[in-house]
Amino acid sequence: MYKTYDLGKTKVRAVNGISLTIKNNSFFSIMGPSGSGKTTLLNLIGALDTPTKGKISINGKNLNDLSDKALTQLRRFEIGFIFQSFNLIPVLSCFENIELPLIVAGVNKEKRKKRVDYLLEKVELEAVKQHKPSQLSGGQKQRVAIARALVNQPSIVLADELTGDLDSKTGERIMNFLEKLHLTENQTIIVVTHDINIANKTDRIYKIKDGKLID
Ligand SMILES: Nc1ncnc2c1ncn2[C@@H]1O[C@H](COP(=O)(O)OP(=O)(O)O)[C@@H](O)[C@H]1O
Ligand SMILES: [Mg+2]
Repeated sequence: MYKTYDLGKTKVRAVNGISLTIKNNSFFSIMGPSGSGKTTLLNLIGALDTPTKGKISINGKNLNDLSDKALTQLRRFEIGFIFQSFNLIPVLSCFENIELPLIVAGVNKEKRKKRVDYLLEKVELEAVKQHKPSQLSGGQKQRVAIARALVNQPSIVLADELTGDLDSKTGERIMNFLEKLHLTENQTIIVVTHDINIANKTDRIYKIKDGKLID
């Protein structure tokens, strides 16, 4: 697939002929320097952006064929996102941040509580579940974001530089949580990073340069 940004005089080939088949239940990273096309590629995989050329299928569905409504459903139930800057809602507690996608999905209160409590235990945040994001450390915030991304049991979780705002030790711990969750929750997890130490924590590393996969 291809994604070209047309800037009038110049064209940026952000993703320049990448073909990738992602197996269920895999845990891998896409590593490359800044500007190599990692975020563009991840947004294409996550149906947040559309390719200029080529196609993307998720669980047998060709994204080009889906209506806006079907795309929204896909983003809501089949894909989880984790961002570098956490993107938590400041006025909501840890518990409520994780619960929110379940409310949007129409899950009843009892089931919501069960699922959120389960994930709070997995990311070891039971003790701070009533805290607001401003009362949490960076590593704790990212664990809330991970739990939130997993809460609807998506088949694919996409993480864009999720350790970028964390010190290296906390970053490694976050990767250990992700690995553990990948093993217990059976989700495909794709980590995009420029950091080899983070990439090394995954089962496989794809390298990207100038919008192309290399070795
Ligand atoms: N919305 C955009 N408009 C124009 N150019 C963009 C846009 N988004 C990204 N680019 C360009 O596409 C290339 C790849 O960017 P990006 O996917 O963000 O790389 P990475 O995440 O690896 O740093 C870069 O040259 C960047 O400047
Ligand atoms: Mg990026």
